[in-house]
Amino acid sequence: MAETEELEAIVTVAVGDVESASDLDELERARVAHTGRRSRLSEILSSIGGLPPERRGEVGKAANAARIAVESALDRRREELEAGLLGAELAADRSDVTLPGDPHPRGALHLVHQIRAEIEDIFLALGYEIADGPEVETDYHNFTALNMPEGHPARSLTDTFFVDGHPDVALRSQTSPVQIRVMQHRDPPFHVIAPGAVYRRDDVDATHSPMFHQLEGLAVDRDLTMAHLKGTLLHLVRELIGDHEVRLHPDFFPFTEPSVQVQVRWVDRHGTARWLELLGAGMVDPNVLRACDVDPERWRGFAFGVGLDRIAMVRHGVPDLRLLFEGDLRFLEQFA
Ligand code: DAH
Repeated sequence: MAETEELEAIVTVAVGDVESASDLDELERARVAHTGRRSRLSEILSSIGGLPPERRGEVGKAANAARIAVESALDRRREELEAGLLGAELAADRSDVTLPGDPHPRGALHLVHQIRAEIEDIFLALGYEIADGPEVETDYHNFTALNMPEGHPARSLTDTFFVDGHPDVALRSQTSPVQIRVMQHRDPPFHVIAPGAVYRRDDVDATHSPMFHQLEGLAVDRDLTMAHLKGTLLHLVRELIGDHEVRLHPDFFPFTEPSVQVQVRWVDRHGTARWLELLGAGMVDPNVLRACDVDPERWRGFAFGVGLDRIAMVRHGVPDLRLLFEGDLRFLEQFA
């Protein structure tokens, strides 16, 4: 009987220690003291095998019950202490939801890209598709196929950035080479636009930058005429800058014949009305169609090239092109 009583006493002391443990370290010490290898409880448990057989059942049962009682007291207290710890952590970590957040300014599209997106929408609504081409172009696409054979004054070296050691490779000086790429890869009829950056060794001044943006248009279909071209461009101008008088003024481009410059009657900020050049356009020269294996007897095309930065300047009264590319947020934010 001695063991049974002793076990009762062990449980009483152990549970008392466990329940009064005030933190997890103290609890761990109580666990080692009362259930560890050298504890009295372990001793009794391992001595059971050596007891006379008639006592084993009784002592074994009592010892196991004691172990379970102490272990469940340990589990209970551990949970309590851990929950208390968590509660304390949560209390210490409470955040003040009324504090102002970290400023996270919203981005916006650059003015030139807004205009590009607007023009894309206008032409997508007319059934045009958007085409793309490389900014590093071959001389053939940028000049030769556009009816500018070698020696043509319009391809004068001083205007174009060529790639060192590759006389046939240049930064495209216009988006017109995309016309060639489109015609080489698909059969008419088609209507496409191709926006993007172009590069010229222009001297930098208020209206010139070595990088600027154009949007090319090309329609190839049966029986297209200047009337279709004018109607399309008039629609573009109206949508972009409102109801202005528009005229086609004769011009020259090697890849169109006849060629025109679209001018719009524009009242500037000082109240002076004048004709302002907005873009170049024309009927695609048969030589260009032929260079792309498009039969000029069956198909006719019109093309146009819009300066996107120029539209930005006109529409928003931007006095200096360089403002668009200097990245000064005080300027750019006005259009956000
Ligand atoms: N590529 C011409 C330029 O950069 C602009 C242009 C004029 C494009 C007439 C055209 C066009 O498609 O028909 O000055």
